Amino acid sequence: MEKTVDLKTAQYKNIIDDYLNRQCFIYPSEPQQKLFEAMRYSLMAGGKRLRPIFVLEFCRLCSGTWEQALPFAAAIEMIQTYSLIHDDLPCMDDDDFRRGIPTNHKVYGESTAVLAGDALLTEAFHHIATAPLSAEQRIQAVEILSFCAGALGMVGGQVLDIEGESKQCTEEDILAIHSRKTGALIVAACKLGVIAGNGNDAQISAAEEFARNLGLAFQIRDDMLDVIGSAAEMGKATGTDTDKNTFVQLYELQKCEELVARYTAGAISALNCFTDIQYLTDLSNILTNRTY
Ligand code: IPE
Ligand code: IPE
Ligand code: MG
Ligand code: MG
Ligand code: MG
Repeated sequence: MEKTVDLKTAQYKNIIDDYLNRQCFIYPSEPQQKLFEAMRYSLMAGGKRLRPIFVLEFCRLCSGTWEQALPFAAAIEMIQTYSLIHDDLPCMDDDDFRRGIPTNHKVYGESTAVLAGDALLTEAFHHIATAPLSAEQRIQAVEILSFCAGALGMVGGQVLDIEGESKQCTEEDILAIHSRKTGALIVAACKLGVIAGNGNDAQISAAEEFARNLGLAFQIRDDMLDVIGSAAEMGKATGTDTDKNTFVQLYELQKCEELVARYTAGAISALNCFTDIQYLTDLSNILTNRTY
């Protein structure tokens, strides 16, 4: 099982990397080359590409082709990358390594890193607006992604995460942080896949339910890896969440593991309305004990 799922994940990742590399921010005659370089530095550093993989896979589950989902997949990865560049800034989590290389601000300076993030966020919406899909699909994608990435989604969660540094949060508080800072972009990814594949309302709801659960499992595992993970393997520092409110601060590791398993099972059971869910099921299960 593990072999087949890994092969498909590697194929998806290649497709996404190749598209981003060829389609994004190559404008040789423009003077602001430092900006493009900074944007591509973080974008092409090689993350897991989990969110764009969800876009392609949910499109396929709705009988679409991965080609038609690629512009939406690229857009979500631009937003993911921007969120990481800003998350690592000294005024945020103040981290020096990301995706196995020095963080954007360490290489290009803070002002360029902020602007590279700004540009990636904005270009994501340009990419959606100019995608070769119907106007209806593009407007739906803009609505979903702007909501999930914005004040009621990821950015809102980041604010709660920072505010949480100075207080003791309950499980409910941490769930509110995690569902926004991490869950929301995963929700956007899965729903964008359904939109790209012309899926129906029931499929959109199922994608959202899957993603809500998977997003929580994913962030709880991220919290665990800050304690038990290897910085070399993850490409980012560990042991840095001491001021944060995380599940690991709240519960023993074993209980965290159980919660990851429980939310993952919730995610998988939301997939009932789709056929051919083997890959997503296997991928979700593999993520429960991921090491990076
Ligand atoms: C990092 O996301 C931020 C979190 C939500 C924990 P990923 O672990 O998916 O990072 P990349 O995209 O693979 O670098
Ligand atoms: C970040 O959460 C979520 C984002 C919106 C970027 P973390 O701060 O836990 O992510 P890492 O551990 O730095 O990747
Ligand atoms: Mg953070
Ligand atoms: Mg961080
Ligand atoms: Mg973390």
